[in-house]
Amino acid sequence: NEGSLWGGRFAGGPADALAALSKSTDFDWRLAPYDIAGSRAHARVLHRAGLLDDAELDGMIEALDRLEADVRSGVYTPSESDEDVHGSLERGLIERAGPALGGKLRAGRSRNDQIATMGRMFLRDHARIIGRGVLDVVDALIAQSEAHPYAPMPGRTHLQHAQPVLLSHHLLAHAWALLRDVQRLADWDRRAAVSPYGSGALAGSSLGLDPNAVAAELGFDSAVWNSIDGTASRDVFAEFAWVSAMIGVDLSRISEEVIFWATKEASFVTLHDSYSTGSSIMPQKKNPDVAELARGKSGRLIGDLTGLLATLKGLPLAYNRDLQEDKEPVFDAADTLELLLPAVSGMVATLTFNTERLAELAPQGFALATDIAEWLVLEGVPFREAHELSGAAVQAAEARGVELWDLTDEEYAAISPRITADVRSVLTTEGSLNSRSSQGGTGPTAVDAQLAELKRQAAPL
Ligand code: ARG
Repeated sequence: NEGSLWGGRFAGGPADALAALSKSTDFDWRLAPYDIAGSRAHARVLHRAGLLDDAELDGMIEALDRLEADVRSGVYTPSESDEDVHGSLERGLIERAGPALGGKLRAGRSRNDQIATMGRMFLRDHARIIGRGVLDVVDALIAQSEAHPYAPMPGRTHLQHAQPVLLSHHLLAHAWALLRDVQRLADWDRRAAVSPYGSGALAGSSLGLDPNAVAAELGFDSAVWNSIDGTASRDVFAEFAWVSAMIGVDLSRISEEVIFWATKEASFVTLHDSYSTGSSIMPQKKNPDVAELARGKSGRLIGDLTGLLATLKGLPLAYNRDLQEDKEPVFDAADTLELLLPAVSGMVATLTFNTERLAELAPQGFALATDIAEWLVLEGVPFREAHELSGAAVQAAEARGVELWDLTDEEYAAISPRITADVRSVLTTEGSLNSRSSQGGTGPTAVDAQLAELKRQAAPL
């Protein structure tokens, strides 16, 4: 059975049904460049351990280079009988270097340490791409904030009008969550930057190979300290899937807002034509499909995480074949985010905010009631009483069908003589916003400081 990695102790080849079940080249072939890089590093440590002479090392590297070129150009592809990327590439190497030399490379390594290493290499590369994509969304949110300096909007809790906030403050709240996701990817990378290569099947190697030399050549910080952990653990994969799911959830929350903001009823934003879709039957339609797909795909990302965790849950140490199922969820998470992120950053960057409507709505729905209560506190009234008095003002305004600023000085005086005409200083959106100037608040000076800090934290990422 050509291309098979074992056979000595078997009387015959695998049943067709087993071969079909076993086969992973359909999804693991994308790891081929990493596997070849690992093979080059492995050839060098075999040489250093005296297991390949100078000419053999040169021949091996030359054959691997040719194999890599043929994989890249598509001249070399896995055959029907290849089980996985590792076996297929060994076949390709032997075809190029001959069995005498090509057959030497497998010494001291196993597909178990290879796959654990290749997976980490793949995920580290993609974490960088995803991190940049998330930062593009952060940049789009920053740009929208800077394009609307000091524009107010209705701040909501429970979707009900709560207090006026700056549009920039609201947008930057999403930016902070996404920035933390990028920080998480950077932090995750410290744990991912440890190479399992050299762990062998589970117990390490007797051949005097240097795992740290392989680790360094493959861009890792160091090699694992435990070969069982190196081959059997997948928490680094699961953590990648968790951060991916969190990014999906954060994008979904932005998207849910955009979907609401773009309704006729809200009319907070207009979507750019290039980031919205039409209807096959209703000519007037302009749909927020980017946002809806982001919301939908967040479910898929959560599924990638929970599927992987379920795979890992019952596994004894060390390697079990169940672990072949580790790849598709994390590949899917990476592919999904790499597709989604440019669309979301484009959608956010091209939103047109209806700032007039947002400003008009900002103080409505008695959103300045807290300002009355806090103004009373500054006048020496205990908050408990101030809350009651402001609530009475809301009741009076609601009974008359007016807003808080429409009540007369006499009406306020009737509620309490403590509410003098001076209360009007906070009965405007501007007065309300300006008063919230401590760190983290929505006041213009606080938001300026916030934006500077956000940029400072984003800069090194
Ligand atoms: N293709 C396997 C995987 O993806 C690696 C091969 C290990 N197979 C084995 N029988 N030990 O995990």
